[in-house]
This record gives sequence, structure tokens and C-alpha cells, in this order.
Amino acid sequence: MKALSSLFVLVILFGFHSAEQLYFTNPSDQEIDALIANMTIEQKVGQTCQITLDAIHKTDEKGQALVPAQIDPQKLKEAIMTYHVGSVLNVGAHTISREEWMSIMNDVHAPYLKKETNIPVLYGIDAIHGVNYTIGGTLFPQEIGLAATWNPGLAEKMGQITAYECRASGIPWNFSPVLDLGRQPLWSRHFETLGEDPFLCTQMGAALVRGYQGTKGEVDEFHVAACLKHFVGYSASFSGRDRTPAWIPEKYMQELYLPAFKEAVAQGALTLMINSGVVNGIPGHANYQLLTQTLKKDWGFKGFVVSDWEDFIMLHTVHRTAPTLAEAAIQAFNAGVDMSMVPSNPQYKTYCQDMIAAVKSGKISMARLDDAVRRILYVKKKLGLFANPFPGFDQYNLFGSQDFQRVAKAAALESITLLKNHNSVLPLTANQRILVTGPGANSLNMLNGAWTHTWQGMETTYNTKGVPTIYEALSKTLVNKATVSYQPGVELYLEKDFEASRFIELDAYKKALKKNDVIVICVGELPSTEKPGDIRSLQLDDKQKELVRLAKAAKKKVVVVLLEARPRIINDIEPLCDAIIQAYLPGDQGGAALAELMSGNADFTGRLPYTYPRYDGVIEFYDHPRSVDRAKSGDFSAYNPQWDFGFGLSYRSASISGMRFDVKDQQKGTFNIQVNVHNPHDQAVTTVVPIYLSDLYASTTPENKRLIGFNKVALRPGENKTLEFTFDATTLKRISVDGKWRAEKGTFEIICGQEKLVFELDNDINFD
Ligand code: BGC
Repeated sequence: MKALSSLFVLVILFGFHSAEQLYFTNPSDQEIDALIANMTIEQKVGQTCQITLDAIHKTDEKGQALVPAQIDPQKLKEAIMTYHVGSVLNVGAHTISREEWMSIMNDVHAPYLKKETNIPVLYGIDAIHGVNYTIGGTLFPQEIGLAATWNPGLAEKMGQITAYECRASGIPWNFSPVLDLGRQPLWSRHFETLGEDPFLCTQMGAALVRGYQGTKGEVDEFHVAACLKHFVGYSASFSGRDRTPAWIPEKYMQELYLPAFKEAVAQGALTLMINSGVVNGIPGHANYQLLTQTLKKDWGFKGFVVSDWEDFIMLHTVHRTAPTLAEAAIQAFNAGVDMSMVPSNPQYKTYCQDMIAAVKSGKISMARLDDAVRRILYVKKKLGLFANPFPGFDQYNLFGSQDFQRVAKAAALESITLLKNHNSVLPLTANQRILVTGPGANSLNMLNGAWTHTWQGMETTYNTKGVPTIYEALSKTLVNKATVSYQPGVELYLEKDFEASRFIELDAYKKALKKNDVIVICVGELPSTEKPGDIRSLQLDDKQKELVRLAKAAKKKVVVVLLEARPRIINDIEPLCDAIIQAYLPGDQGGAALAELMSGNADFTGRLPYTYPRYDGVIEFYDHPRSVDRAKSGDFSAYNPQWDFGFGLSYRSASISGMRFDVKDQQKGTFNIQVNVHNPHDQAVTTVVPIYLSDLYASTTPENKRLIGFNKVALRPGENKTLEFTFDATTLKRISVDGKWRAEKGTFEIICGQEKLVFELDNDINFD
């Protein structure tokens, strides 16, 4: 009896549709409307459903996906033909070859290509620092390193190459860039951000979007749809733990957290993913105001909004804003989420059934469902999927090419930041005996971090072949009679979910100290992200610090290389180090880049994209208000990070002088700034020129300064250049005491290097 009644329900829900299939290869807006008008509720709901590849994989008797990955035809048929699923994401357990991707794509797109269905599937992946899930792909620095290059042109190139290699794997949609602000260093995804500053994040994020999508409007077969994430405030978690609540006052939401998203939307970003956490008591996925009002209505976002992993479900099971799964789906969908990353099997079936029932009962209006489907079809059309969901593999000869690797290496070279170089211990010189040590010395995993071949990036099996670690690269680069040897010193491992460490052959390390002149100690943390990356303290692990103490006690020159997903506290060992290099997570090319920089074959041009904290309990940002500066003694010297935002040394530096400015229109608040940059050396120099603004008095307490412009400039030996920056009044605007955007009249300072200029704005300029 039970079996019979469930069969009856299935027939009602997924019975034969009389609607005729309409086929369009490049649908116009009207044709998309016609398609939607011709779709059944079931077909429409299916478009809003995203499943993970594992949901359609063939598995063994233990439920593990087969290797090489194979699609289960029955599961696929059920997903595409019965449930009309619109999107598939992810890789199985680990990275796979292009041939395996080809076979997956052949299967996934077969129903569309055979005209069994009239809407192509949209495939998405996290290619967040290059195509990290295709064997042989080009791996770039993680976003935090990319931000440290202060080079939007390089970010755009990284986007282009990543897009190309995604398409070469048959994938037209990338869940990148992360535009969350890196203002909570405890957060396990700090390395996925573009740092703490809204202006830098906006510039670099927009460049990535241009790189991913191209600039032609239509996204051709060498570009992909970007996905801005995680809208908004995920990174501001109060505890620093993954997916835990944040409190963001409206003023800071407007000034700090929203601008990078707003600009990326203006650049035409096609999709956006939601914050899994709760901000100001409202789960990201239930926030109508942000998703529908701000994003879609106020900003005019035309693409679609996708949930994060299982987040419709989480509204019921974790955030408790919906007493049932069905109500959770209604809540999220009506708040403005267009596609649900459900994503597992059989959960996706429940999702589809709940959604169909909700539409039939009127809890979700047909207009809202049509709006979501229209947005999804619009993106599929923009990507050319109707014309050809799978352009094939033959036209991607540059996949993993030397040219692409060179760009990744340039990105690593430009990101790595020199924080200390006492007595010019760097560059390393001829005849030195160099010991390379520490858990990062001989590890590709620690160069790459999470989202590399596997989600957590810990597996060594899939590492790119033939790519040197730091030790290997230094051994190759340092000829000139230098000798390079290796001792691990310390090993990092996981113990009850948290990182732990142990010494490895400490006696051998101590002996090696005696035999060497310079000790290069590569410290950091194990790759991790999301919940597995939660930590209990920002302190760098003490055993790694002990390697530094021992080296200094042995009176050696100590060079520390930081391979960090977030700034770890090192104030106690900093005085013991002669040189400190922040390498962030530079990717596969990091070893080679570090070797070139340390040996002086290249110069450091990276600059910190965040304020490096000195103390665990004192987290501050460069754009703090002046109250942060007040010391107990009453003077203004309390702001004392380990290193300031924008800090970074070079072997050779350029001078900045002669800043002048030209007020174009005082009423409108437009102005130009010019500054001279000079290279006094007989070798080329590349430097970052940042421009800061300080609003001296305002109705809401002003920051002491904030970044409003920058340029990374290359100078030939002896060259002088004049840089020009153009600003309009939007640069001066802040949220005023009445909650409105306004450039308030008064005195402003412009700061560049050691130079300062003052100007007056005569009248208020309103922007709301
Ligand atoms: C992460 C997202 C990611 C998604 C798909 C989630 O757990 O938060 O950033 O895009 O998984 O892999």
C-alpha cells in the first residue's frame, strides 16, 4: 500500500508533460521568455537546483566514487530528465585529468546534445587560485598573495588564464573571486581574501572579474562566469570561527563590506554566492533586504544568486529561522536566492518536491520562480551554453603551458613581501653554506594551501610533478659555490582536528646549524579552509619558533619564510630574525620565485595587503580612527602593529617626491594628483605608489587615513616618471551621521610617501 501511494505521488509530480520543447541556440530575451512560458513547474524548479558531482557518480559498495570518475547513467538520467536539474558543481574527492573532465562533460551534456532536454546544464567549480582541480593546471598564489602584488593587470591575467583552463576542462563557471574583507585574521579563509582594504579589494576583485568574463559582454569559449562571494560579511565573524555570526553596523557595511561587490556587479559579474553565516541576527540566505533590495533592485544585478553548500538546509538545521526544510527553501528563495546548492543525493529530490509544492500552494509566487529561472537562463545564454554547452578540448593548446606558468611565477614574484632585512642578510651570496629547514621547506602543499588538488589541500599524491619546493629551488638557483642542505626540523600534523607539531631529528638539526652560515627557516601552517581551518590562537606554533631560537643561539644568520594562510603572531621571534619574508601561499611557482628573490636575481615588490598584528589580543587596521592611536600616557603612539598595511621592503627603492595637486572643480570635488617617482639605481626598479586620504573633521569619526589610489610602476635605471591620479567627489564620500553618503565640506589631507597636501572642500556634496 505504501509503495503504491508513493508511486502515485511520483506520477503526479513528475508525470508526462505535454508541453512542447522549444529549442533555441542563442535565445533572445523574448525567446527566453517563450522558453519559460513553455516550461512546467517541475522544469522551472529543476533549473534552481544544483547538485554535486558525487550525486551522479558511480560508487563502489562503500559509497566511494570510482576512480577514474564515472557518471552513473541512471543517476544522471534521474537528475536531468526527471528532476530537470539545472546545474552541477565540484569535483569528486580530488583533482582529475582533462580526459576525465572530458568524459564527465560528455555524459552531463549528452541529454541536451541529443535534444532530450532543451536547456543545457551549467557546470561550476572552485578554481580559486588557478584550475586547482585539473591535473597540470596553472596554480597561482592564493588571493591574499595576489592582493600583495598591488597589480590589477596581473590579477586580470590570472583571471584570463584560469578561465581558459577552466574551459579547457569543460567548465564555464568559476566560484571566484572571494570579495570578503580580510579583517578577522583568525578566520580560516583569510588567505582567500584580497586583504583588509575595501579600495584594494575593489580594484583587484574587479580585475579578476574582467579576467574571468572578458570585456566583450558575451562570455566566449575562453572565458567563464565569475561568482562573487560570499555576500556579505562572512569574513567578519566575531569569533573567527567558520560560519559563525558577525555584527556589522550599517555604516561599515556600506563603507567597508559592500563596495567591492557593488563594483564587481557594475563590471557585469554574472553570479554571486551567499554568506553561509549570520550577520546582525539574519542568516545571509534569508536576507531579503540585501539580496533583493540592495543587490537586485538598487544595484540592478542581472545575473543569478546561488546559495552556498547546503545553506537552504542550514536555515532549518543550524540557523533555526525555519522550522521545517520546506519552509527553509521558501524563506531563502523568497529572500532572493535563485539557485540552491542543495547539493547531495537524495536531498536534492526533497528540495525539488518541497519547492514544487510551495509554488503550487502559492507560498512561492510564479513570478518569483520565473524571475529566478530567467536569471539562470540569462547566464546560460551569456555563456553560450545553448549554442554549445561543451566547446570540446582541442582548442586549448595553451593549457598548462610555459607561458601560463610564467605569469603564475610573475604573480608569485610580485606577491612575496620582504618584511625585514637586517644588515642586508639578503640576498644570499656566493660561498655561503645554507641550511633550509622547517615544515614548509620541502612541501608543495604548504606553498599552495587549501583548494589545491583536494578541498583541504593536504594530500601529497596529486601534487604537480616536477615543480620545486623551496629547498629544491634554492639548491638549483644558488650556484656560485654556495651549498644548500635540508633538515625538516619540525613536522606539522593534525591531532583531534587541530594542528599539532613535533620535532623531527632535532639533534641532526642542531648539528646542521653548526655546519651552516645562513639558516632559512620555512614556517607556517598546514593547508586548511572552512571549518577544518578553525584555530584557537593566532600564535605561530611554538616548535617552529624554537627552530628560530636555536638558530639564533648558534649565532647564525636567520632568514624566516612565512607560509601563512593568515598572519600568525611572531613578536617574540622577530628580533631573533635577520630577515623575514612573507610568502603567503604563493602556489606551485612559489619555491622558484622565493629562490630568485632570496638570491637577488629578482627584487621584492610585494606589499602587505593587511595590517600584520603584533599581539594576539590587539587586532587593528591601518584605517583606524585616531582613538586607536591613544597610548596610556596620552600621546598618539598606541597603534603598533608588527607591520603596517602596505609595508614591504625592496633591495632597491625608488624615491617619491614633488606631489602636487590640481583642484579641477571645487564645487564638484574633482581633483588630480601628480607625483614624481625616480629610480636612482643602475638596475630596474618596480615600486608601489599608494595615495591615502585623511578627512580631518567629519560628522562621523573619520579614519586617520584610507587608501584612495595606487599605481605599481616599473622604472628603468635612472628613470623619472610622473604619475597622475584622477579623482572625483565619490572619493571623498563617507557615511554621515544621518546615515547618508556625503562628501562633507572641510579640510582633507592627501598623503603619498613622506609628502602631504591639504585642501578644502567648500560645500557638502550629497550622494543619496
Ligand atoms: C564554500 C564555497 C564554495 C562551495 C562549493 C562551500 O563550502 O563556502 O566557497 O564555493 O563550498 O565548493
